[in-house]
Amino acid sequence: MSEHRSGSSADRESNASVVSTYDDHVMPIWKSLNVPVKRASGCTLEDVDGNEYLDVFSGISVTNAGHGNEAVVDAAKEQLDEFVHGCSYVHPNEPVADLAELIADVTPGELQKSFFCNSGTEAVEGAIKLARKYTGSKEVIALEMGFHGRTLGSLALTGNKSYKQGMAPTLNDVAHATPPYGYRCPRCDGDRCDASCADELERVIGSHTSGDLAAVVVEPVMGEAGIVVPPTGWLERVQEIAHDHGALLIADEVQTGYGRTGELFASEHFDVEPDIMTQAKGIANGLPLGAFTASAEIADAFESGDHLSTFGGNPVACAAALATIDELQDGIVDNTREQGEWLESELAALEDEYAVVGQTRGLGLMWGVELVEPGTTGPQNVAPRPDAELASAVADHLRDESSVVMGVGGYYKNVMRFQPPLTISRDQLERAVDGLRTALDAIA
Ligand SMILES: Cc1ncc(COP(=O)(O)O)c(C=O)c1O
Repeated sequence: MSEHRSGSSADRESNASVVSTYDDHVMPIWKSLNVPVKRASGCTLEDVDGNEYLDVFSGISVTNAGHGNEAVVDAAKEQLDEFVHGCSYVHPNEPVADLAELIADVTPGELQKSFFCNSGTEAVEGAIKLARKYTGSKEVIALEMGFHGRTLGSLALTGNKSYKQGMAPTLNDVAHATPPYGYRCPRCDGDRCDASCADELERVIGSHTSGDLAAVVVEPVMGEAGIVVPPTGWLERVQEIAHDHGALLIADEVQTGYGRTGELFASEHFDVEPDIMTQAKGIANGLPLGAFTASAEIADAFESGDHLSTFGGNPVACAAALATIDELQDGIVDNTREQGEWLESELAALEDEYAVVGQTRGLGLMWGVELVEPGTTGPQNVAPRPDAELASAVADHLRDESSVVMGVGGYYKNVMRFQPPLTISRDQLERAVDGLRTALDAIA
């Protein structure tokens, strides 16, 4: 057995051999960025061949405190030596209790009690169950173009056909409302936006539900849709309408939480206190952990036996999360704001410089650059056609010519995604923006 393992690791000493073994034995569910990682530190990835890359995607917005953050690694190592697993629901332990207390302290409003799981998807699933249990109602509303995960419940909330093809049927009793996507909004084309698309929620409730509503689930900034930031007043109005119909507001902060938008949670940019908040991704800087948090009144609707996860609240992941939050609050969120302001003005300049840059938008260090075919008419007739091919070519150029790893996303797969570790320096950000310019000069 050990002979076989050492034999095969010797075979995996190049990028090509890792990719070949990967392709042979890992299910082909995604077009990878083609940078097989050997080690990572701060904002730098090193591949198996020894090449270095500037990472401005953080493994889909996860390593917010920087790859290999020393305090986080030390906290995890220390906990590894104490104990690795006891099932936090069978054996209450210090890391899980301390983390739940800290989350109650740092989240907005009345959010006081958490459930821990292992991913964002599980957090969303659990939040829906809690909302149903508390309200005694069934139906859920999410947003068109939104993303909430890939299990059959969270997939039903996800408002994007491309994730669902061949997977139906998913959960019943889900309706979708209009997203606040100003750039492609036929109501107001974004420039004259008065957030009145929030009122569409009333129409959806009236036309597409029985009115038996448990929750409205929204991302405060829509990540996978293409970094869509709602206009002022939108989220507040959505919560008001949800409450008018007896439904809870679930803020899915899986992607926006833990410093990403320049506040610890994106909800803090708006005048809302979510009834339930889901978290994952950046919470433990890369160790698998998810959570949903509610007020004591809502959380206590769960009774013994209603929900559980064997690995949920793993003490090593919780210890890492405690250190991560500490690090974020100790200057990293401030850096996010500072670098984010600089990035905002740099990216805004690209809109004037390049006809293919349709819109740039974001908050903190969560920015999207939407690429389009100038002179064409795209969906909704208000903005040019999305150019997914260009976005993919730009990402390849960035990787191959500038050694910068940048994500591509968006409902139309045409949005370049700046979501670096939040520890990123001005020099590193400049390098990423320069790389984007070079790629656009070369290709667009
Ligand atoms: C807003 C949001 N919710 C849920 C999820 C699912 O999280 P996970 O991939 O950890 O299951 C994601 C993942 O991208 C997300 O962005």
